[in-house]
Amino acid sequence: MIKRAAQVKLIDEQGRRVDGRLPDEMRPLRIEVGKLKSADGSAYVELGSNKVIAAVYGPREVVPRHEVIPDRALLRCRYAMLPFSVAERKSPQPTRREIEISKVVREALVPAVFLEEYPRTAIDVYINVLEADGGTRTASIIAAATALADAGIAMRDLVAAVAIGKIGNLLVVDINGVEDQYGDGDMPIAMMPRYGEITLIQADGVFTKEEVKRALELASKHIDEIHRLQIKALKETYAKIEEGE
Ligand code: CDP
Repeated sequence: MIKRAAQVKLIDEQGRRVDGRLPDEMRPLRIEVGKLKSADGSAYVELGSNKVIAAVYGPREVVPRHEVIPDRALLRCRYAMLPFSVAERKSPQPTRREIEISKVVREALVPAVFLEEYPRTAIDVYINVLEADGGTRTASIIAAATALADAGIAMRDLVAAVAIGKIGNLLVVDINGVEDQYGDGDMPIAMMPRYGEITLIQADGVFTKEEVKRALELASKHIDEIHRLQIKALKETYAKIEEGE
C-alpha cells in the first residue's frame, strides 16, 4: 500500500521527529580518515545509518589521454550505491540518480580544489554508499572532501554539507530516509565554511523566499560543526602517524 504524507506522522506531540530528534538536531556524525591503504586518500563517514566510503586516487596520468586539460587537473567523481545499501536490492548498473549525484558532488568540490596546481593530471574520487538512509549525497560530499585533504591535494577549504528538510511549515535539519520520502521538501546544501561560500544547493519541494533564507542559516550553523569534525578527524590521523602508529 502506498502511504501518503498525511498518514505518516513525522512530528509527534512533543515536537520530536520519527527518530526522536528535535527539528534542529543532526544525526550522529562519525568521520574516519585513511581507512584504505591502497588509495592516496580516503575517508569513511557514518551519518546516522548512512555509511559512505570515499577513496581518492591522484594526481595521476589521465586515461583516456584526450581528456587531458593542459592548465589544470581533471577532477572526476563517481558515486555508487551498493546493491545491498537499500531495502530493495539496487542493480549494480549506474542509475540516472547516481549519475546526477556524481555530477553534483563533483560540482560541490571543484571550487575547493586548486586544480591549477596539477595540470595535465587526473584526480579521481570514488564514493561508495554501503548503507543509505536519506542524505547520502551530503554524507558523500563530507567524505569526498575529507578524502581529498587526506590525499594531500591542495585545497582552499574543506567542503561540508547538510540537507534541510521541510515537514509542513517546519524546517528540519539532516532529514532521514522516512522524512525524505514522506516530507514536503529536501534542500541539500554544501559550503566552504571558511569563505561562507555555497558550492551546492538543490531543492526538491516548494520553499518560500523566507524559508530558503532560514534554511541557509540553519545549514550554515551545522556545516560549521561538520567542518570542525572533518578537521578533527584529519588531525587525529596525522597525530597517529607522528606517534608511529
Ligand atoms: O540520499 P540522498 O537523500 O542524497 O538522495 P535521494 O535521491 O533524495 O534519496 C533519498 C534516499 O532514498 C536515499 O538516501 C536512500 O535511503 C533511498 N533510496 C532507496 O531506498 N533506493 C534507491 N534506489 C535510491 C534511494
